[in-house]
Order: sequence, then C-alpha cells, then structure tokens
Amino acid sequence: MTAAATVLETSISDLQLVKRGKVRDVYSVDDEHFLIVATDRISAFDCVLPTPIARKGEVLTQLSRFWFERLKSITPHHLVTARIEEMPESVRRHKEILGGRSMLARRTEVFPVECVVRGYLVGSGWKDYKRTGEVCGHKLPTGLRESDQLLEPIFTPATKAEEGHDENISEEQMRDIIGDEATNTLRDISLRLYSEASSYARSRGIIIADTKFEFGRDRDGKIILIDEALTPDSSRFWPADEYEPGRSQPSFDKQYVRDYLESLDWDKKPPAPPLPPEVAEATTARYLEAYRLLMGESV
Ligand SMILES: Nc1ncnc2c1ncn2[C@@H]1O[C@H](COP(=O)(O)OP(=O)(O)OP(=O)(O)O)[C@@H](O)[C@H]1O
Ligand SMILES: [Mg+2]
Repeated sequence: MTAAATVLETSISDLQLVKRGKVRDVYSVDDEHFLIVATDRISAFDCVLPTPIARKGEVLTQLSRFWFERLKSITPHHLVTARIEEMPESVRRHKEILGGRSMLARRTEVFPVECVVRGYLVGSGWKDYKRTGEVCGHKLPTGLRESDQLLEPIFTPATKAEEGHDENISEEQMRDIIGDEATNTLRDISLRLYSEASSYARSRGIIIADTKFEFGRDRDGKIILIDEALTPDSSRFWPADEYEPGRSQPSFDKQYVRDYLESLDWDKKPPAPPLPPEVAEATTARYLEAYRLLMGESV
C-alpha cells in the first residue's frame, strides 16, 4: 500500500461525481465504469464526522480488493482494477489523491437490499432476539447470550434506507422486493461468501461476527458482488483470543469513536463533533491492525 495524504472529500475536475456516500465518492468514468473512491471519512450513529481517519480509505479499498480476488470462485465481482497505473489517464492524473484508495469498477443496477449474514448474535440481531426470540424470521433457540455463536450462520437481509437506519426484514419480505429467483441467488452466495471468509479470518485470529454484502446487475443482467467486501466498516471483526460470550466484544472498528461520542453530551444529530487526535489515531491503529492480521503483512 502507498501512503497518501488524508482525504476527507474529493472533487475530481476530470470526472463527473455520481454520488457522495457516507464514506465513498463515486464518479462516472464511462458508460460501463465507475471510479469508487474510499475517502478517510468515518461515520458513527449514521452521521459523518468532521475528522478524517488517516489510512482508512486505503485499508478499506485494499481489503476489499483482497477479498474480491480470494472469493472470485464463489461470485463474480465489480472490481476491474485497484491499481491506479491501470486506470484511464483522467484518473491517473490525480494519483496523489486517488492512489491506493480507488477502485475502477463495473457499474451496475444495485439491488435495494443489504445482504447481511450473521454467525454470532450481536447488534440489531441481539436486540431483535431479546424482544421476539427471532432474527429476520429465523426462530432461534431460547437462552442464547449476547455474542453467542449461532448453530449455523443465518441470512438476515435489511432494506437499504436512503435516509436514516436500515431496517431488518425477513427473507419473505425480500422476495416481495426483488423476487424469488434473485433472493435465492443473493442468499446462497452471501452464505457461501461468509462461510469461506470467516474460516479464513478465523485462521488469522479474527472472528467475523457478521457482515453485509451488496449486489447489482451488470449490463448483461448478470448478478455480481459490488461495493466493499468484508471490511471493518461492513463487518464486525473481533479478536478471537479475547472472545467471551455474554458481553459485548472488543472489535476492530469504530469502537473508540463510539465510546468517545457516548461520553459527550451530543444528541447524535448532525453536525457531529470533531474527534480529539488521540481518538482518531487509535482508530487508525485499529484499522491497520485488522489489515495486518488478515493480510499477514503491515502496511
Ligand atoms: N458497482 C457498483 N454499481 C453501482 N453502485 C455501486 C457499485 N458499487 C458500489 N455502489 C454504490 O456506491 C455507494 C458507495 O458509497 P458509500 O459506501 O459511502 O455509501 P453508504 O453511505 O454506505 O451507502 P448509501 O449511500 O447507499 O446508503 C453505495 O451507494 C453503493 O451501493
Ligand atoms: Mg457503504
């Protein structure tokens, strides 16, 4: 990975901005391709913070690249290249800003559902279970504790809300939104991706408690994996040696950030407050550590 300057927002004069997500700036390169730029923005409680997290964009892009390649026998994906040298001149010209953090990707029509797989009971899954004994229509045994491993990973889709929180839905509700055939395909691929990735991660000391995939249809109507894959932003990564069910787990993501924000008198509505340098630095260190463990090399 190449060290680049910290980037909170991009504005690339040669390319047309299609969308600014919470983390990514998406540009149109041509009819068939997007440039997806992971910035160093971080969001917490669905608000984007004003403080960048150095190296984060690079970690997200390089980890996704690694997983797309590793999992390509399970599903085709949208990544054409993450090497800036292989991108069009209009992109290469902005190497300083874009290098290391950008993916040239096939553009797709995105399925409006988040394909979540859970191997452990945590987050909204744990909340739903405590209330109803079920998660997204999966009836679970009684007496499970927070962070317990499930007997089998479960597919727990959610709506992709334009604004605000995504909402957990059942597989039946997903069928109403995108149809039977696409639902079956997305579910089966998601479960296989999780199974393969979580056993690899486990061998490197990381538990992938849950994760979220996105899929789209390419120009030929083929279903492909898009967006980011198996990063600390789209997944819960836990250090395996500290795993202990019955409580919340330390994780490789925004824990410091959330803990810090919880200590403030902030109502969790925009604008979000800035982070002190030591919180931002500790967060960078967590992202780099997740990368190092998974990839077996430092950045
Ligand atoms: N190959 C692709 N084709 C079309 N859209 C894509 C592709 N890959 C990713 N996207 C979209 O690009 C955006 C990436 O931006 P980012 O991850 O920052 O958004 P987000 O804030 O997480 O999500 P959203 O804005 O969708 O709620 C997402 O909306 C994602 O669905
Ligand atoms: Mg996203």
